[in-house]
Amino acid sequence: MTMVKLKMGMVGGGQGAFIGAVHRIAAQLDNQIELVCGAFNQNPDDTIASGLSFGLPKNRCYASYKEMFIEEQKLPDTERMDLVAIVTPNHLHYDIATLAIEHGFHVISDKPATLNLNQVIALSETLAKHNSLYALTHTYSGYPMIKEAKHRIKQDELGEIRKIVVNYPQGWLSQPTDENNKQAAWRLNPEMAGISCCIADIGVHGAHLAEYISGLTISHVCADLTTTVAGRYLDDDGTVMLRFSNGAKGVLLASQIATGEENNLTISLYGEKASLHWSQESPNSLIKKYPNQSSEIIRTGVGNLCAITQSNTRLPAGHPEGYIEAFANIYLNFAQQIHALKHQLVPPTSALDVPDIKDAIRGMTFIERVVQASESDQKWHKI
Ligand SMILES: NC(=O)c1ccc[n+]([C@@H]2O[C@H](COP(=O)([O-])OP(=O)(O)OC[C@H]3O[C@@H](n4cnc5c(N)ncnc54)[C@H](O)[C@@H]3O)[C@@H](O)[C@H]2O)c1
Repeated sequence: MTMVKLKMGMVGGGQGAFIGAVHRIAAQLDNQIELVCGAFNQNPDDTIASGLSFGLPKNRCYASYKEMFIEEQKLPDTERMDLVAIVTPNHLHYDIATLAIEHGFHVISDKPATLNLNQVIALSETLAKHNSLYALTHTYSGYPMIKEAKHRIKQDELGEIRKIVVNYPQGWLSQPTDENNKQAAWRLNPEMAGISCCIADIGVHGAHLAEYISGLTISHVCADLTTTVAGRYLDDDGTVMLRFSNGAKGVLLASQIATGEENNLTISLYGEKASLHWSQESPNSLIKKYPNQSSEIIRTGVGNLCAITQSNTRLPAGHPEGYIEAFANIYLNFAQQIHALKHQLVPPTSALDVPDIKDAIRGMTFIERVVQASESDQKWHKI
């Protein structure tokens, strides 16, 4: 069967934006999806300028996302977009996702899913009433070595997990920022970011990764958030103690004032028999450590890796499988879900390995409980 590319619209991600460009490259990397339209900016002229620079015709550059959903719905099946990528600041995610679903489109949204927990619950209810699929781009779950770690834990290579340590230090907010730093401006504005900056921006990735790899859920949190740089309204640093569903303990450090750090996400999972360690800045390696023997370096493209790892690996050994490829894995798997739904086929198991609305609800719950815990004298807060 000749594969017809899925057609994608985008909201946000105009020229000068950060993650929209990554989404466009990732979505199109495997030739399963093409960008056909967008409302890339709140300003219609800027949307047209962006759309033209992406090679789109002017009539598919819409003045607003509302107009885009209405006009695209009128187009014939051969032209109409199938899915929309949401890459705006957080406060718009709920409205855009809800409208998209109500107009019959599939949604791939960046995180955090919504501005608050109530919104994501309402979104899940809307989703349940429609035939749309939903994916959330928790990027790090797309790396092949993360999938391998998940597989090995499922195979009981570590035994019972006892401790999980996630460290996510960045330094880009270590100094005061002004309105010219567009990415910082909205992240530090509660009306656009929600009740948290650091935890909603990066802490939630760490929490998702811990649950995704371990297969456990975080049951309780104890948190200490800080607004380090004067004049800010939201946290730029956080320390969270974790308790997991099996009784394992954990720590999640998330910081945007860790001076000099780039995107130094690391995770360690310690079991009774062995431990696993991964670092985002050298993503092709997964280190396995034992109590009484030398450590093992598990590498992408080498040896007997599981089927899911292999299907999420693009390159021969030694070529870095990076951030864009991890994003592209989420897009490719989600595209396979959409194709299966369109053609009434059963999707391959690997296609279902994509963060979804359940992860969206867990993420928003995590953010709300961590902020609540930090503001409270009570030590542990249930998730
Ligand atoms: N998964 C990841 O690793 C990752 C990384 C970075 C950002 N993000 C998330 O992606 C989202 C965007 O972050 P960013 O850093 O790219 O922000 P950004 O400020 O760089 O870009 C936001 C874009 O949204 C556009 N926009 C704003 N209002 C709009 C509207 N009404 N209609 C159309 N477009 C509108 C802006 O013009 C801009 O182009 C956030 O939710 C963020 O949390 C996720």
